[in-house]
Amino acid sequence: MDAESGLVAWGWMNGDGPGSQGWSAMRANNRPFFKPISLEPRLARAVVNIAAGIGQNYVLDPMCGTGGLLIESALCNRPTVGIDVDPEMVEGAKKNIEWAGVDVEIQRADATTFQIGEEVSGVVLDPPYGRNSQGTLDHDVLLSRTLKNIRNQVKTGCRFVMIMPTSPELVDLDEEIKTDDFLELFEDSGWMINSRYCIPIHSSLARQLIIATAD
Ligand SMILES: C[S@@+](CC[C@H](N)C(=O)[O-])C[C@H]1O[C@@H](n2cnc3c(N)ncnc32)[C@H](O)[C@@H]1O
Repeated sequence: MDAESGLVAWGWMNGDGPGSQGWSAMRANNRPFFKPISLEPRLARAVVNIAAGIGQNYVLDPMCGTGGLLIESALCNRPTVGIDVDPEMVEGAKKNIEWAGVDVEIQRADATTFQIGEEVSGVVLDPPYGRNSQGTLDHDVLLSRTLKNIRNQVKTGCRFVMIMPTSPELVDLDEEIKTDDFLELFEDSGWMINSRYCIPIHSSLARQLIIATAD
């Protein structure tokens, strides 16, 4: 993301970039703690870089799962903090962080109420789909409370990038997604959606990338 021109560029990095062992070695299923929810590392790195840009402050993942976004952030020497409500995920993410040889603060906390305690440059979020792991909130309520809690603690202009599954029928690599989904939910929570893109994964799955800014 280039702040001055307002352009987003997608592509493959020339060479492996930070992380030295190459993308194959860093695949999510090579980590000591793997779950099918783990994001592919190149996608995770792109999400982090779009969110944090040239910011020097923390990258926050409030639902860090196995730690895929945290690893890519820390490999790029960004100060990084991760939260997850599930103790199994917290312990597993810590193992993965150690395996990757990076330094990340990980806490067990609820994304809808936790206090960050750090200055944040960018927020990355790969939320659960459907009901949350505790089974208590539906997806929109969980998302709205999380967005509000974080918005109350970050400065205007802070970037937020969310990635989530979507229908492959929405895939149009030449155009932004133009549906109304999420617009109201983000706006009511203090975030303005800047743009949304589709990323094809396989024939029955695509991911939607939502880029927003604290309003
Ligand atoms: C799709 S997974 C994240 C996957 C992650 N990006 C990875 O690479 O492994 C969503 C995570 O959100 C966590 N979660 C659900 N509700 C939460 C809440 N209220 N606060 C914090 N974490 C929550 C779940 O425990 C789960 O680990």
